[in-house]
Amino acid sequence: MAAEIIDGKLIANEIREELKKEVLDLKSSGITPGLGVILVGDDPASRSYVTAKERACDNLGLYSENVKLPVETTEEELLKLVDTMNNNPKIDGILVQLPLPKHIDTDKVIMAINPDKDVDGFHPQSIGKMIMGKETFLPCTPHGIIKLLLRSNVKVEGANVVVVGRSNIVGKPVANLLLDKSEGGNATVTICHSRTKNMADITKNADILIAAIGKAEFITGDMIKDGAVVIDVGVNRVEDSSRKKGYRLVGDVKYSEAAEKASKITPVPGGVGPMTITMLMYNTVYSAKNR
Ligand code: GUN
Repeated sequence: MAAEIIDGKLIANEIREELKKEVLDLKSSGITPGLGVILVGDDPASRSYVTAKERACDNLGLYSENVKLPVETTEEELLKLVDTMNNNPKIDGILVQLPLPKHIDTDKVIMAINPDKDVDGFHPQSIGKMIMGKETFLPCTPHGIIKLLLRSNVKVEGANVVVVGRSNIVGKPVANLLLDKSEGGNATVTICHSRTKNMADITKNADILIAAIGKAEFITGDMIKDGAVVIDVGVNRVEDSSRKKGYRLVGDVKYSEAAEKASKITPVPGGVGPMTITMLMYNTVYSAKNR
């Protein structure tokens, strides 16, 4: 079976067009949604994500403040900047790009963000509300995955979904959203991780397989059930001297093998990635509406 490609760029653009109308409405009532983005250090992948976020704000007509700090920035300096953004009425959402340098306590920084501006959905208050099924900011990548499934007409309710990976950013929250009693939820969810035994036996049962492990091409064709829907969250740089940049991007799924087995599959790049940024814009607009 040759898999149908789930085009994340296309779906992300549809949602961005819908958001454009909402931004125009807000602007006509004197509100310009604003996003504050903080990057500490010079990790190349983080830098390119932050640039993409700035560009998305510009395209949508959002106000944005982008602060790039050197790697030696202290925790105190970063907390002070978060506090300034918390108190800036032009900023509806604050995003501190992760990972942070090791000398900074990430949890402390996340907890310093005003939960009303937590457009990443990483604050314990947002996570708690999400788990309870209450309205809140949903983390962008997990929310983007749910939207991708819904807009690709994948039936989630009652499906066996296997999530590979248990990070706080993707694995745990996406598993919770899939479990939730709401549209895009009501699935039977299994989470696999580095200590899981006989992983292929579990993944082969998945109607929907979500790979978020951060290991290049970890999921091979023999781990996938015929006709499964495969969502690849991974973005891994692998050396490739034939490319101008010296590397190419691959997912956590061995695409050529998976595409032979799956009924639908997300590519890397152009699958989940564009959805993450779009849901960040969505959360920022949602926050501005609540201003
Ligand atoms: N690093 C990788 N993904 C994310 C994300 O969604 N938000 C933030 N703040 N940092 C990240």
